[in-house]
Amino acid sequence: MVQSPISRITVIGGGQMGSGIAQVAATHKHEVTLVDVNQEALDRGKSYMAKSLKRVAKKKFAEDEAAQSRFVDEIMGRVSLSTKPQEAVSRADLVIEAIVENIKVKQDLFAQLSKAAPQEAILASNTSSLPIGKIAELLDEQRKQRFIGLHFFNPVPQMKLVEVVRTKEVEQDVVDSAVAWVKAIGKAPAVCKDTPGFIVNRLLLPYMMESIRLLERDVASAQDIDTAMKLGAGYPMGPFELCDYVGLDTIKFIVDGWHKDGEGLKGNPLFTSSKKLDELVKQGRLGVKSGKGFYDY
Ligand code: 3HC
Repeated sequence: MVQSPISRITVIGGGQMGSGIAQVAATHKHEVTLVDVNQEALDRGKSYMAKSLKRVAKKKFAEDEAAQSRFVDEIMGRVSLSTKPQEAVSRADLVIEAIVENIKVKQDLFAQLSKAAPQEAILASNTSSLPIGKIAELLDEQRKQRFIGLHFFNPVPQMKLVEVVRTKEVEQDVVDSAVAWVKAIGKAPAVCKDTPGFIVNRLLLPYMMESIRLLERDVASAQDIDTAMKLGAGYPMGPFELCDYVGLDTIKFIVDGWHKDGEGLKGNPLFTSSKKLDELVKQGRLGVKSGKGFYDY
């Protein structure tokens, strides 16, 4: 196993992504503090973790319920919960933010955290579509040099990749530390520049949007497009299953943002929303999380 000097992690945001990151770090023996705005949000994050860990435990110790419980309890024992972000980052080696995709909210959060985090701590954002450099904009030069993107994928416990996103300001030793830490938690890093969508979403979003446009042009049904991409291209999910899984509001938010002012993407037709997507979001058909999307759940 790859070793990393990073051992104390603070994750801000207990949603699916944040709790998944906390779970994976705790599984790899890190001391984790998960932060959210109130106890209710923290309890939800804790229950996401427990559910996912039980799933892993059931596979690991198939016939042994006591061993399953010990496995879950041991990992959960390394996770503390907090509603006080400044206190929670005061001893952190690495802080990962996974909160709402709003640039102003993220900038303000980091301005607040930078008053309390150790000077040598690495600060990171798990944003999927906002520029990392812009999130760090309010920080001083020293902090900017230790600020990086760490982009995880859903479901975090299962998806192997983490994009390590380098800004113009970040120091090489911070990139190296981030890469080593990603390996230490059993994931595979892919280093890339701070450009819209990094690697995966830059390719995935046009693919999703083109799939929706195929459906709009009545080229094939959603089911047949999904079957085609699963069996013809080896994808684990078809594009419509994936859209529903990621959330149609999330997809619309990303393409609309890039269409408006994504560096090099502004006005690009591949990154334009579509009538079908707009309609589904308007109707509240957001995918798996709302029970309906391209499919019913
Ligand atoms: N916690 C723990 N384990 C989980 C899990 C979770 N939340 N979700 C799935 N798993 C595990 C299962 O236990 C199972 O493990 P096994 O193979 O060892 O038995 C394995 O994953 C497969 O799960 P299932 O058998 O239940 O179901 P599938 O075979 O259909 O796989 C899937 C589910 C892993 C989600 C697979 O369909 C997949 O890889 N889909 C593509 C997901 C993807 O592309 N994600 C990226 C989205 S884009 C993104 O996140 C970026 C963002 O910025 C927009």
